[in-house]
Amino acid sequence: MAKILVTGGCGYIGSHTIVDLLENGFSVISIDDNSRSTAYAVSGIEQITGKKIKNYKVDLKNFDETLAVFQENEDISGVIHFAAYKAVGESVAEPLRYYENNMIGLINLLKCVQEFDIPYFVFSSSCTVYGNPDSIPVTELSPVKKAESPYGATKQMGEEIVADYTKTDGMRAAILLRYFNPVGAHPSAFIGESPVGKPQNLVPAITQTAVGKLPKMMVFGDDYPTRDGSCIRDYIHVCDIARAHTLALQYLVDNKNKTTCDIFNLGSGNGITVLEAIHTFEEVSGVKLNYEIAPRRPGDVVAIYANNDAAVSELGWEIKYDITEMMRTAWAWELKIKAAEEKVKSN
Ligand code: UD1
Repeated sequence: MAKILVTGGCGYIGSHTIVDLLENGFSVISIDDNSRSTAYAVSGIEQITGKKIKNYKVDLKNFDETLAVFQENEDISGVIHFAAYKAVGESVAEPLRYYENNMIGLINLLKCVQEFDIPYFVFSSSCTVYGNPDSIPVTELSPVKKAESPYGATKQMGEEIVADYTKTDGMRAAILLRYFNPVGAHPSAFIGESPVGKPQNLVPAITQTAVGKLPKMMVFGDDYPTRDGSCIRDYIHVCDIARAHTLALQYLVDNKNKTTCDIFNLGSGNGITVLEAIHTFEEVSGVKLNYEIAPRRPGDVVAIYANNDAAVSELGWEIKYDITEMMRTAWAWELKIKAAEEKVKSN
């Protein structure tokens, strides 16, 4: 049973990916400093899968501690790297913190991967690398535009670092996965997205407003050149994203004589407006959402969605969840958090 190291395993996409890996015969260890996550996710993973995983509470910026994890686990055969900061606005306010965390973490990790000759590496990237695209849907060959934020720049640089690394001597194959907008939660509602502080992303803003944690939410702009004036994005269920990581590892193993650095878009291929997303949520939950139209958010692109043909044909990726299921599972997760919080209060 191949052992995979997942960094950021307590985070949103990391935890869902661990579930998929465990359910498909891999064994997993995690590194997560829990600066933006809690170890609570580990118990959720264990409840879903009935399997134990170990999380090392290590900051990847600390090279010696990172190396020690590899020394203790000499049988790691692949690495999936999620651990990074991802808030666009925060990255504009604190660029040095973003460059330090996202770049040093990646470099320290790759130094260990090189030292221990680990052949397979999967990197969490983002559609943010396409910036404001000239035409949609975007394919993997669409041009990478100047980054709109330091966060976006760390993803672009990260992709280049990984690509250059795979060109060095040795068995080094990597996949860069460009996520569109991952949303929703595991259907069991044992794991989901737990944003720190006020949510910046659309779906947590919707569910937290609906549950009453936020008094109302803002729709950033209704004067864009789209069918209803709000921005278009490609929402994709987090379990479908997770599945693609297992398939990516399998693809690297199956092509083991190739030292490549392949890129795949992970989006549904459907563009949905912010208002359409809100209305789908209202239908699914039966809750009327308190929202207000606000000015455009700086840095937002007008419209982007994926051409996902490469992931479908090369990785054998099948998308299982539609926007209704995305909203249904996100809502179930929010209600689960609410019930847990009420239980704590009443004790
Ligand atoms: C962006 C990046 C994505 C990155 C993510 C990390 C792009 C195209 N996408 O996603 O790669 O991984 O940040 O956070 O660069 N919205 C509201 N009200 C809210 C929140 C959001 O109207 O309270 C709108 C936004 O204006 C946007 C849409 O909802 O039009 C989606 O926003 P969000 O969920 O933050 O994701 P992106 O900005 O698309």
